[in-house]
Amino acid sequence: MKILVAGGAGYIGSHTVKELIKDGFEVIIFDNFSTGKKELITGGEVVEGDLLDKESFRKVFKSHNIGAVLHFASLIQVGESYVNPQKYYLHNLISSLNLLEVMLEAEVKNFVFSSSAAVYGIPEQIPICESHPLNPFNPYGLTKYFVEKILQDYDRAYGLKFISLRYFNAAGADPEGNLGEMHEPETHLLPNLLLFLLGEKENFDLFGVDFPTSDGTAVRDYIHVTDLAKAHVLALTKLLTSSQSEFINLGTNKGYSVLEIIKKTEGFTGRKIHYRTMPKRRGDVPVLLASKEKAEKLLGWHLYYSNIETIIETAWNWHKKIVSRKS
Ligand SMILES: NC(=O)c1ccc[n+]([C@@H]2O[C@H](COP(=O)([O-])OP(=O)(O)OC[C@H]3O[C@@H](n4cnc5c(N)ncnc54)[C@H](O)[C@@H]3O)[C@@H](O)[C@H]2O)c1
Repeated sequence: MKILVAGGAGYIGSHTVKELIKDGFEVIIFDNFSTGKKELITGGEVVEGDLLDKESFRKVFKSHNIGAVLHFASLIQVGESYVNPQKYYLHNLISSLNLLEVMLEAEVKNFVFSSSAAVYGIPEQIPICESHPLNPFNPYGLTKYFVEKILQDYDRAYGLKFISLRYFNAAGADPEGNLGEMHEPETHLLPNLLLFLLGEKENFDLFGVDFPTSDGTAVRDYIHVTDLAKAHVLALTKLLTSSQSEFINLGTNKGYSVLEIIKKTEGFTGRKIHYRTMPKRRGDVPVLLASKEKAEKLLGWHLYYSNIETIIETAWNWHKKIVSRKS
């Protein structure tokens, strides 16, 4: 039995492929390399194709015994989704519907979905648990919400079993130094800080200093990408053994403000970060913190790498490596 990983050449997908292979799973990576990178592939069979083109992956299901699908392949920029919602609705929804259609044709009924904390919208309680009301308000978050609703209907109607993993802020890099974040454009805090320190960015912009938090900057829950990847292996194993659909948060229940991350990064690198203060970005909420109780209880998940120092250290090692490779 093989596991199809759609989007396995991307940031989180590539770390998950590495963990799946370590745990003895046979992996097929399906990716269009729109944001994914060949250098992030550490094993498994690779099929290049696009989820918007069903024929490009229908044959993969016909020619392999696929037992489950992990679906990472989506557009991920919240800001862009406001400016071009059509692109997000077309891409993220149609690619997911296509994938589910071909899975059902092939009678593959185990699905692990990359969802997001964005499905919750503005939190009513902190930490956010899975039963928190879902009020997504940006097009990106809405695409994740709609896919979750589709999954529930497909479970009821066709017996498709799924685990939807709602990630908080993925950060850090493979502790062995082989994988890391390479988004272009980069919209995430830590890589932007590190790329600025490495001279790859002219400025570092701090968005929003008037949030109702202790220092005025937004507080987020940073989860190390390897811990996130390990949660996928546990979720897949759970799905294959229990055939029970679930929604599960992946976060740490601990938050850091942007200023705290800046100070920690300055402390670790010994370099001063001069930043420009900018207005809040549209849709940014003051605080996002996950309850991790369900992931711990249901999956037996533990955090190994998600302390902030390890996140910064692994990301720094990765970014230094890719920047030095360029010169
Ligand atoms: N990075 C985060 O902090 C975060 C937080 C919450 C949720 N997520 C979700 O996790 C998933 C992975 O995020 P990431 O940061 O690794 O993104 P990424 O852009 O690095 O990876 C996405 C991968 O999917 C591929 N892809 C995109 N569209 C495709 C298509 N139509 N057909 C085939 N391949 C396609 C890309 O080439 C890339 O390899 C996404 O679904 C994202 O919404 C990420």
